[in-house]
Amino acid sequence: MTTPKKLFIKTYGCQMNVYDSERMAETLGGQGYEQTDTPDDADMILLNTCHIREKAAEKIYSELGRYRGLKADKPDLKIGVAGCVAQAEGAEIMRRQPMVDLVVGPQSYHRLPELEAKTRQGDKALDTDFPEEDKFERLKSRPKAKRGPTAFLTVQEGCDKFCAFCVVPYTRGAEVSRPATRILDEARDLVERGVREITLLGQNVNAYHGAGPDGADYTLAQLIWDLDKVDGLERIRFTTSHPNDMGDDLIEAHGTCSKLMPYLHLPVQSGSDRILKRMNRSHTAESYLRLIERIRAARPDILMSGDFIVGFPEETEADFQATLDLVEAVNYGYAYSFKYSTRPGTPAAERPQVDPAEADDRLQRLQALITRQQRAIQDSMVGRTVNVLFEKSGRLPGQMGGKSDYLHAVHVDNAQVNIGDIAPVRIVAAGTNSLTGELL
Ligand code: 5AD
Ligand code: SF4
Repeated sequence: MTTPKKLFIKTYGCQMNVYDSERMAETLGGQGYEQTDTPDDADMILLNTCHIREKAAEKIYSELGRYRGLKADKPDLKIGVAGCVAQAEGAEIMRRQPMVDLVVGPQSYHRLPELEAKTRQGDKALDTDFPEEDKFERLKSRPKAKRGPTAFLTVQEGCDKFCAFCVVPYTRGAEVSRPATRILDEARDLVERGVREITLLGQNVNAYHGAGPDGADYTLAQLIWDLDKVDGLERIRFTTSHPNDMGDDLIEAHGTCSKLMPYLHLPVQSGSDRILKRMNRSHTAESYLRLIERIRAARPDILMSGDFIVGFPEETEADFQATLDLVEAVNYGYAYSFKYSTRPGTPAAERPQVDPAEADDRLQRLQALITRQQRAIQDSMVGRTVNVLFEKSGRLPGQMGGKSDYLHAVHVDNAQVNIGDIAPVRIVAAGTNSLTGELL
């Protein structure tokens, strides 16, 4: 038997990249690669990159620079760049950093075996196509390796919305939904391997419209109801959603599907209609708030989370105040806020930019408000009993950590549970980022 080659993957960015890295590792497993958690003994280093905000490419070039010594010591070491920086920069990466052997965009991962073979012959391998063939079909996994209790599963990829700030429609391409039967097969396979919670992924996951079992288009809610019937699967989540794609059946499922967890990430980006219009979001602050009312009518305890951009071109103090007002009105359990970052090639890049110091100040004020809300919600959990899916042992002996239905991180001391168990826990203390509880 030949000794396995070692593969080191470093993942940046979103959960879809985490999923993609797993699939790339499985695919390269077929070429005799085994994963390692350090670059030092690797035969191949793969950076799975993110291009959503500025400096992403610069970060990758400086990371690559750090591997120069390794490559000099071990000329057989192959270095690859995957993900959205690979898609956006393409051959430029090899030009600027000649030690890179392989550049592969997100739509070409299934071609990795061929690309890897090419690098072994001493050639450079570049693939940033948007091919016709079904990437996921060809990325089928190999022997049924055991998995942890939670997993991501990509059901939809790409985006047709073209928000004025965003590179996703360019790096991930047009919206494509996978057929429901393939998703269900993959979900059953994950459950057989130990998974109890699946998070359905898509850049616009609630715009899912893959072929249903009879060939007619399925909605995300229909897919969720089929997953609800998978024995052994206990929890379903999905991310990231667009307000305009929150269909009635999906809202209703939040009230009636017990496996669908009471947590919803629904980015709004701004609370100012003037800015939302300039962002090409095609919804208003008011329509977003009405939507959340309807979602909360279906599932009153749902925990809301969102994304915000401050300092978008032409944003005034009054526009920013409208964002603060919207955050006050929603009361988020979690929210992520970013300073606007110019992405070359997107429409907003050409517009008058906000003074960076002003944008920094707004970001700090928004984050302070969000942290206050998050903390108040965490505090309100004390005394309540929640179900926790245990995912790992904690930092202290006997401690176990997991997630509540609401996605709160929960630690339990002296926990007589196994990884993968779901058990009721009474919350006894709260911090800003995690809760402490006792097993009931
Ligand atoms: N600048 C700042 N934030 C951005 N996002 C996307 N593009 C940009 C950009 N150019 C944020 C949005 C999105 C999240 C994933 O990243 O809030 O919802
Ligand atoms: Fe980007 Fe807007 Fe599409 Fe989200 S909906 S991926 S922010 S273009």
